[in-house]
Formats: sequence, C-alpha cells, structure tokens
Amino acid sequence: MGTVTDIKAPIAAEMDRFETHFRSAMKSDTPLLDKITHYIIKRKGKQMRPMFVFLSAKLCGGVTDATYTAASLIELLHTATLVHDDVVDDAYQRRSFFSINALWKNKIAVLVGDYLLSRGLLMSVDNGEFNLLRIVSNAVREMSEGELLQIEKARKLNIDESVYFEIIRRKTASLIASCCQSGAASAGMDEDTQERMRLFGEKVGIAFQIKDDLFDYGDAEAIGKPTGIDIKERKMTLPLIRALNLASSTDRRRIINIVKNHNENPKKVREVIDYVIESDGLEYARKEMLAYQAEALELLAGFPVSPARASLEELVNYTINRKK
Ligand code: IPE
Ligand code: IPE
Ligand code: MG
Ligand code: MG
Repeated sequence: MGTVTDIKAPIAAEMDRFETHFRSAMKSDTPLLDKITHYIIKRKGKQMRPMFVFLSAKLCGGVTDATYTAASLIELLHTATLVHDDVVDDAYQRRSFFSINALWKNKIAVLVGDYLLSRGLLMSVDNGEFNLLRIVSNAVREMSEGELLQIEKARKLNIDESVYFEIIRRKTASLIASCCQSGAASAGMDEDTQERMRLFGEKVGIAFQIKDDLFDYGDAEAIGKPTGIDIKERKMTLPLIRALNLASSTDRRRIINIVKNHNENPKKVREVIDYVIESDGLEYARKEMLAYQAEALELLAGFPVSPARASLEELVNYTINRKK
C-alpha cells in the first residue's frame, strides 16, 4: 500500500509551493489573529483536499496558477469549517491538540472561522477566479445545509439510511467533490470531464465520512480527536442506524431512549457503543464504505493510465485505510 509520501510523489513540488501559498493567505496584522493562525498552521491536518485538487489537475493535463488558488481556497474553507464544527459539536480536541474553542472560547472561534472564510473568498476574487468561486461556494452551501439537516434529525432522531447518506453527501462529500471538479477546471477541462471528476470526488467523499464515523467508535488517542461524541451530540451515524434496524423493538426503544435522554451520561453512551459493536453495525458500515471506494475507482478507470491516476487510486485507498 502506498504511503502518503508515495501518493504525493507526482505533486511533491506543488505541495511544497502550496504550503507557502496557504500560509501567506492566512497572514494577519491583528496580533490575536496572527497568534491563532500560527497555531493552526503548526498543527496542520492531512491536507487531503489539496492533494485531491493537485492530482485531479495533473490527471487532467496539468497544474496551473488557478490550481494553487483552488487548493488554498478549499483548504482555507475546510479549516474554517473545522473551527466552526468544533464549536457546534462542543469538541475540545482537534489534530491531537486543543481545538480553537477549547483555548480561546466560542466567541473567538466563530470570528476566526469567519476570517479564514473571507480570506479564501478574497484571494479568489483577487485572482479573478469566479468560476472556481461558484464551484466551491456551492459546496460550502451544501455543507451548511447538510450540517443543519443533521441537527434537525438529531432533534427528532428519525433518521434512516437514505437520510444518513444525504447528510454526509452534503456535509462532507460536496467539498471533496469540489476539489476534484475545480482541479479539472483549473487544468482547462471541458464540462463533461469536470462532471466526471466531481462525481468521483463525491464517491470518495462519502467513503471518507463513513470512515470518519467509524473512527467515532475507536480510540481517541490514536485518532487525535474525541470519540464517542457523535452519540453525545445525538448524531445517528451508519453503524448505529444499522444496529437499530436489526434490533428487537425492546432493544430499539432502550437504545433510542439513551440517545435521547441519557446522551450526557458516559456509562449509558458506552452501553450504546457496545451494543453497536456487538451488532454488525461496524462491519456493515465498512462494507458500504468499500462499495463507494469501488465506485470511485471505477470512475478513475475511465481516465488514461498515468502517475497522477495511480496516485489518485492510492489516495482513494488511503481514504478508507487511514489511521486518522
Ligand atoms: C475532518 O476532515 C472533517 C470531516 C469532514 C470528517 P479531515 O480528516 O480531512 O481533517 P484534517 O484536515 O486532516 O485535520
Ligand atoms: C464533519 O463531521 C464536519 C464537517 C463537515 C465540517 P464531524 O463533526 O463528524 O467531523 P469531525 O469528526 O468533528 O472531524
Ligand atoms: Mg465534529
Ligand atoms: Mg466525526
């Protein structure tokens, strides 16, 4: 299996240049912002979205200046949404360190998220990248809709599999889809190719979020963010939905009652987690994830063989095999 270094091989120089581009896109003369953006840069994430942007551009002919703008814009927006997401989810850990809201409180975290978002938009306007702005802004709109749909469902706890897939397609897959589409667009590809790349990113994005939801049943130490918090936040993800679908009506009532009324009680939450682990919920979610992986790989197979295609294949595999 390819390591991240292997995956990055065809775009190593581009990722280095991106790093500088990204850092300068965040710079601020306001001392507090400067301090916080430094903190964010020091604890950078996996940068999978820029990798998708550059590899998609490479697959489609070549990286251009527009590709750098797309990669920086998307990573800025991604970072902004994580800062906001940790406020929404009341999460105190991110990338193995304290989240922004844990260190500076919600007020500041909300404003920092807004700042990052606006820097991304301004950078794109300054470069005249209006088509890119349309693609990515649509993804961010979908992301917000997905998160709100999730909150609405968490209140009523009436979520089935099709709603689950709708939520994750919007809140996570849409941004990864925009990486692949804008990568192709930045390389000058026609609408039809852009659409194929968008669809490819959507499939990977769905697999990506199923993997993330599986992490919530794992070990926080290894993953670098809290686990068990989905149930605490009353988020019903695929493993739990599956377990409930197979449960007797007594079990079903008991589990839903815990998620609804005892979601702040760690012992009760543990009971739900153990119930899901003992059902085939995790295995089932994993199978669904593999089905999306296969669909993504099939779409890639429609492109000519190249080092970029091979790396994208490895990036798809990394999405479902990653340890964090
Ligand atoms: C986390 O995304 C947010 C989700 C959509 C699940 P990543 O796992 O890509 O986060 P970083 O950037 O690597 O920390
Ligand atoms: C994805 O959902 C969040 C966004 C789309 C911003 P999660 O809430 O599960 O993401 P993590 O687990 O906090 O990274
Ligand atoms: Mg979260
Ligand atoms: Mg999660």
